[in-house]
Parts: sequence; C-alpha cells; structure tokens
Amino acid sequence: MPRMPNFAIDGPAGSGKSTVARELARRLGLIYIDTGAMYRAVTYFALQAGVDLENEVELDALLNEIRFSLVRNLKSGTVVLWCSGVDVSPHLREKKVACNVSKVAAATSVRSYLVQYQQLFARTGGVVMEGRDIGTVVLPDAEYKFFLTASLGMRLERRGKELQAAGQSFTEEELRWELTYRDEMDRKREVGPLKKAPDAVAIDCTYLTVPQVIDKMLEDYGGG
Ligand code: DC
Repeated sequence: MPRMPNFAIDGPAGSGKSTVARELARRLGLIYIDTGAMYRAVTYFALQAGVDLENEVELDALLNEIRFSLVRNLKSGTVVLWCSGVDVSPHLREKKVACNVSKVAAATSVRSYLVQYQQLFARTGGVVMEGRDIGTVVLPDAEYKFFLTASLGMRLERRGKELQAAGQSFTEEELRWELTYRDEMDRKREVGPLKKAPDAVAIDCTYLTVPQVIDKMLEDYGGG
C-alpha cells in the first residue's frame, strides 16, 4: 500500500479551517484530526478536576491521567477523538472551556504531551490535521501545508454560527473578546505560536466557499 500524504492546516479561530479540513478529509478518504479539540479536552478535564490552570505542576499531574485515542464510528465511518475512554466532544464548545483554553494551550508541558500524540496519529500518513502549529512544529514534513486566513468580520460571523450550532449562546461582545483575546494569546505564546510555516500556501478564505477553498488546495498541488 502506498503511503497516504499528510495535510497540515493552520490558521486563526474562525478562519474556516475546521470545516475545510473535515470536508477535505472526507473527499480524499483521509482521517480528520482537530488538535484544538485536544487542548479543549485537557481544559475541560482540568476545570472538572479544579486544577489551577496556571500551575504547571498541577497540569502535569492531570496529564498523567489523560489518554487520547481515535475511535472510528462504524455507523458514520468518521473518526472521533476520545479522551480517557470518553467522547468529550459535547463539552468542548462550552463557554468556560472556550474562555480558558488559551491558558492551557500556553503551558509547555501540555503542548509537548499533545504534540507527541499528534505526531503518533500522523506517523503512518493519511491525516488532515488542523491547528495552530501543525505546519511549523507538529508535522513540519507534511506533504501539503496550508495557512488559512479571513477578515475579522467574517471570522466573527463564522464563529458565531459555529457556537449557535453547538447550542452555545454568546453575546457579540463576548464573541469578539473571545476571538481577539485568544488570537493574541495564540500568536504571542513562546512555544508553538500561531504562525505560517514558510513553505505553507496561504489562502484568504474571506470570500471563498468551502468547495472553492478545497479546489484551490487541490489545484495548488495538481491533485484536483
Ligand atoms: O481551534 P480551536 O479554536 O478549537 O482551538 C482551541 C484553542 O487551542 C485555541 O486557543 C488555540 C489552541 N490550539 C493550539 O494552541 N494549538 C493547536 N495546534 C490547536 C489549538
């Protein structure tokens, strides 16, 4: 069997990368991996356990108890991320998780723990992995790398719709704060900041539909 390629997709919150990555994986028959969900899952467990999110010793102790696995849903055929034997996806968009995830994502021990898992998941190829540091840190040798952007207005709109679909109610102000604050934290942190890899193809998704973005991605590599 030939090795399937890996796709690394990075970009700020609301740039449309989750929808694009999921659809690209579906079209190519690859496994979609949302690394933001892993940071959110650690944040969810930390909040549940009452861990001080700025205390790396407490976070380290929690990490010792967290195991990730990819589980294929036999009905839908999709692959879902499980955390310590549980499908935590219903909790990942909760407001308290969204408001605290940047603190957890800035912790060096959390990042190195999750990056190891992410590299393991991609070891045999065939993944579409999205996040902030995939092209730079997690999979610097990925066959295909993209960095997606969009205007702040469009990102706010997309994020609002995404949260609405997840049954979460945010005011416009909360949404704007959440997005701009998290972006700033993600760009400024010392380890694995949000950054375009020099060899990633940048795509501005402000005025493009999901199929248009995917066509562009496949075109760029002559795979369309
Ligand atoms: O993509 P998202 O909004 O679900 O990501 C949640 C948070 O996790 C966000 O603040 C950035 C962080 N994150 C990260 O630091 N590195 C990644 N590879 C993915 C997400």
